[in-house]
Amino acid sequence: KKVVVVYGGRSSEHEVSCVSAATVIDAIDKEKYDIIIVGITKDGKWLLADSVDSIRDGSWRKSKVGAVISPDTSRQLLLIYDTEKVEKIKIDVVFPVLHGLFGEDGTIQGLLEMASIPYVGCGHLASAITMDKFFTKVIADSVNVAQASYVPVRSFELEDVEKVVEKIESAKEYPVFVKPSNAGSSVGITKAHNREELIEGLKLAAKHDTKILVEETINGREIECAVYGYGGNAFASGVGEIVAAAEFYDYDAKYNNAASKTVLDPDIPADKLEEIREAAVKIYRACDCFGMSRVDFFLEKDTNRVVFNEINTIPGHTSISMYPMLMERAGHPMGEYVNNLLEMAYE
Ligand code: DAL
Ligand code: MG
Repeated sequence: KKVVVVYGGRSSEHEVSCVSAATVIDAIDKEKYDIIIVGITKDGKWLLADSVDSIRDGSWRKSKVGAVISPDTSRQLLLIYDTEKVEKIKIDVVFPVLHGLFGEDGTIQGLLEMASIPYVGCGHLASAITMDKFFTKVIADSVNVAQASYVPVRSFELEDVEKVVEKIESAKEYPVFVKPSNAGSSVGITKAHNREELIEGLKLAAKHDTKILVEETINGREIECAVYGYGGNAFASGVGEIVAAAEFYDYDAKYNNAASKTVLDPDIPADKLEEIREAAVKIYRACDCFGMSRVDFFLEKDTNRVVFNEINTIPGHTSISMYPMLMERAGHPMGEYVNNLLEMAYE
């Protein structure tokens, strides 16, 4: 079978995606699958990469061979050598290893559906919903999963910014987070400590999306859970914690240079662990997720309240990434689940 791994992309998580793709390709069963590697440059060009090494050293960006998914239903990848020569390859499945906008947000999923090509992971609707913070909130509310409370703002409302500020200040205490609903990768997000910063934050967020969320600040530990499968078979792994290096710095200099650290089986009460795992599967199902997703939570420091944060439908797959670590801990190493995800795409 021929699998096409697509990586890179136009989002600000382009580089992470390249690392994830190389890790995923390493895990694909080469006896079962012929792998065709297609990188998308930051400006959106699709190029054929000749090897995983070319992803690792970045030389794929110099590839002279264009690669496009045929938009009809012939399930073909067209390799374009020059204006004269086009090679058509029948493909069986696509594994999008793209993070953020134009990849994790339903856009490529929609393209693949147009082309009748099975693909790994969540469908176009689940991908679009989970990329959009506002719509994710609406779904989480609908199944009573606790989350940071928020005030939604539409960019047109900013014409009367006084009124918007009044609405927010009557509902929330500073500091608040101001976030574009659909931007991805933390772009355009600010923390506002006062009215001035709030107005600046709203203006910045409005540059990225017409929907803006103003959220209460949750002071919590960052806890993440891997969910795998679909429908009634979806299951949650144990959990991991992201610990920021800055906090380590104070009491243990050896973590000085680490950007952040992932801790498996963090010390949290057993009932909270179960609550997180249950909420992870609940929100995964409610958003109609399929295949895999990493569901991120806060465990609020003062109250021990479990607060849902976000779903990542194509979680990072670097050597230090939480999703593969949690799955391995749950008894499903990458070599197993990556290939199962490819099989699942056919159903
Ligand atoms: N968006 C990054 C890659 C992650 O959530 O893992
Ligand atoms: Mg993300």
